[in-house]
Amino acid sequence: MDDTNALPDLSMRGKNCLITGATSGIGKVTAMELAARGANIIIVGRSVEKCESTLAEIEAKTSNANLDYLVADLSDFNSVKNLAKNFTNKYSKLSVLINNAGGIFMRRADTADGIEMTWALNHFGYFWLTGYLIDVLKSTTPSRVINVSSDAHKRATLSGPPNMHDKMPIGYLTYANTKLANLLFSYHLAYNIKSTGVTVNAMHPGIVATDFGSSNGIIGKAIQMNAKVFGVKPEVGARTIIQLASAPELYQVTGKYFVNGRELLSSKTSYDTKLGTKLWQWSVDVSRRHGMDTKRIEFLR
Ligand SMILES: NC(=O)c1ccc[n+]([C@@H]2O[C@H](COP(=O)([O-])OP(=O)(O)OC[C@H]3O[C@@H](n4cnc5c(N)ncnc54)[C@H](OP(=O)(O)O)[C@@H]3O)[C@@H](O)[C@H]2O)c1
Repeated sequence: MDDTNALPDLSMRGKNCLITGATSGIGKVTAMELAARGANIIIVGRSVEKCESTLAEIEAKTSNANLDYLVADLSDFNSVKNLAKNFTNKYSKLSVLINNAGGIFMRRADTADGIEMTWALNHFGYFWLTGYLIDVLKSTTPSRVINVSSDAHKRATLSGPPNMHDKMPIGYLTYANTKLANLLFSYHLAYNIKSTGVTVNAMHPGIVATDFGSSNGIIGKAIQMNAKVFGVKPEVGARTIIQLASAPELYQVTGKYFVNGRELLSSKTSYDTKLGTKLWQWSVDVSRRHGMDTKRIEFLR
């Protein structure tokens, strides 16, 4: 029988899903739900204890024992590089990569790589991990990359690559700029790998009552209080990620922005291909300076 038009296997059973920021909030719910659908779950977290207790909870609730964790600080270049190496040493396939770990920082802090913390975690965490895993994603098609952004991107003022030496406005504005960067990154990558069978989509989870922002002292408490009063539960916030990761009908949809389970337009600036290319080029340059072999991701559009 000629099966050239047959659909690929689109079930989640036995599929490797790598999820960052899965020790808490919407990432944890996503890991739980994908485990319940039979996927092999590999979570990324900074603490062994938190990773182990998260996996114990997932196994107890789903009876899925195909669970693993890798420890990494996603704001640190060498840590992400080692994470990708540890992943590819252990696994030859990756069906779903969920870039979710992110944060907001009210005080300026720079990483050991000399990158402002919000940019390091929210942008470079996604850029480096996806860049290092692009080959394994391409060899596991159909495969999906899901980038957790935020509606906060609409408040962004980014008009070019940020200058790390500038006195950067930290807090909400830098957060908004990095969430716009998530969209520029997603659309640029989706465009450049569109014929490979790897899809790239971005989403906004809504205002969600999680630990988000909690490391910012009194302001952090206010952020959390706001989310508790006005936000939805993590189970609701995670729904669109789970849909993007697993819905069979979305397996060829790429370069889109989803909110509440629906494809929506993001801000006008997020579709600025000149800005997207500049941000990409800057990200490649910064990454190369840290020793990344960037040949596979030098897309100039
Ligand atoms: N909550 C909202 O209202 C909201 C709204 C829009 C968008 N978002 C986006 O949703 C995503 C997830 O947020 P959430 O609300 O679920 O927040 P959360 O409960 O604070 O979870 C954040 C996760 O990221 C991990 N993480 C933080 N810094 C890390 C680092 N340097 N290296 C590795 N992992 C790190 C944390 O792990 P540890 O256990 O190591 O701390 C935690 O698992 C973020 O990208 C955020 O921008 C959230």
